[in-house]
Amino acid sequence: MRGRIVLGVSGGIAAYKSVEILRLLEKRGCGVRVIMTRHATEFVNPRTFAVLSGFPVQVSQWDSPTMPGVDHVELSHWADLLLVAPATANVAVKMATGIADDALSTYALAHRRRVLVAPAMNTVMWRQPAVQEALSKLSSRGAVIVTPESGELACGDTGQGRLAPVEEIAHRALSMLPPRGPLAGLRILVTAGPTREPVDGVRVLTNRSSGRMGVALAQAAADLGASVDLLHGPLGVALPLGVRPHGVETAREMEEVLAKLSAGADAAFLVAAVADFRPVAPIAGKLDRREGGLAIELEPVPDLAAGLGARTPRPYLAVFAAEDGANRDRALEKMGAKGADAVVLNDISAPGVGMEAVENEVWILSAGGIDHHVPRAGKDEVARQILLVLSGELLAHRPGR
Ligand SMILES: Cc1cc2nc3c(=O)[nH]c(=O)nc-3n(C[C@H](O)[C@H](O)[C@H](O)COP(=O)(O)O)c2cc1C
Repeated sequence: MRGRIVLGVSGGIAAYKSVEILRLLEKRGCGVRVIMTRHATEFVNPRTFAVLSGFPVQVSQWDSPTMPGVDHVELSHWADLLLVAPATANVAVKMATGIADDALSTYALAHRRRVLVAPAMNTVMWRQPAVQEALSKLSSRGAVIVTPESGELACGDTGQGRLAPVEEIAHRALSMLPPRGPLAGLRILVTAGPTREPVDGVRVLTNRSSGRMGVALAQAAADLGASVDLLHGPLGVALPLGVRPHGVETAREMEEVLAKLSAGADAAFLVAAVADFRPVAPIAGKLDRREGGLAIELEPVPDLAAGLGARTPRPYLAVFAAEDGANRDRALEKMGAKGADAVVLNDISAPGVGMEAVENEVWILSAGGIDHHVPRAGKDEVARQILLVLSGELLAHRPGR
């Protein structure tokens, strides 16, 4: 299991958004137990959380005192993280003060590990010194506060107080979990997506990569317990949760950030479709069609994989080879030329797999002798397989540790 989370839901209008938070956390392999305040049940029926979490929801401390795992002290031995989302003004102040007069506030006092609080309330309530002081107090004691957003609130007012986006809350929660899983302790760098090379002030040279495979790999690595940096160009898919994103645009920017991040990485998976060529001299301003035809001089972009492969010490290096036809010899040649430890080959001529597609079929080959075929499957599953197949080599490599 990726992590064990107690999700506390209190009585604000944003309580319905916690259902989505629960789903996001479960999708990432977390076990979640839900405690609701009595007032929260006015907004969402506990059954919704019970069905989705697969566990009874605790509302009263007296609900099921004999049920294992429900009692607050027993639960506190189980949980890695207490996430209170939404946190009402009332719950935030109670937590800061140490009041324990219902199941959630009692659990908050019994909880032993990290605490994440996502407040949501009307903007006047948000600005109250009582609330602000409570949150500062919680923060000074080590709780992490996800600041609410500004915008239109459910009550019709406009201002700060709207619950932060559910993806951000889930991301913060995942980032606070202790590393657990077969890749725990490893720091993995993944590059993803295309790069964009400027032609003039508005036009770019790019490629069809959506970033899906690299994002799937970053997500799978985090789900398997690794600490993950994702270095990405402009993506056509949502960022993964629980990883550190580093967005760049050009190959030059990617090269710079790659040099920095790879220094601290145990393994690097270079999945990004970095430009092979870029305009020698991007034109300032916007090119005008009325000026007639145009020839753009291109220069080759330095090979980022080969650059990293030549360094010592360096992270375990896995490169991706998109080949027309499942040409293993070409892939092995590429692995050798780049000084890589492994190559993941995918056949871009096969319909429905590879670039832009949601599925992939790959062959994993390594200098250490791995030769493994992953049959066609969703990119999430393919990513998981790649990491599991290479996990032994990844753990054995660990430069300088
Ligand atoms: C329709 C409605 C919406 C509410 N929304 C919020 C809210 O977003 N944030 C908040 O702090 N309180 C909100 N309240 C007030 C809380 O429900 C109230 O303070 C309650 O005592 C909180 O109880 P709890 O903290 O035990 O859940 C709302 C009340 C109503 C009637």
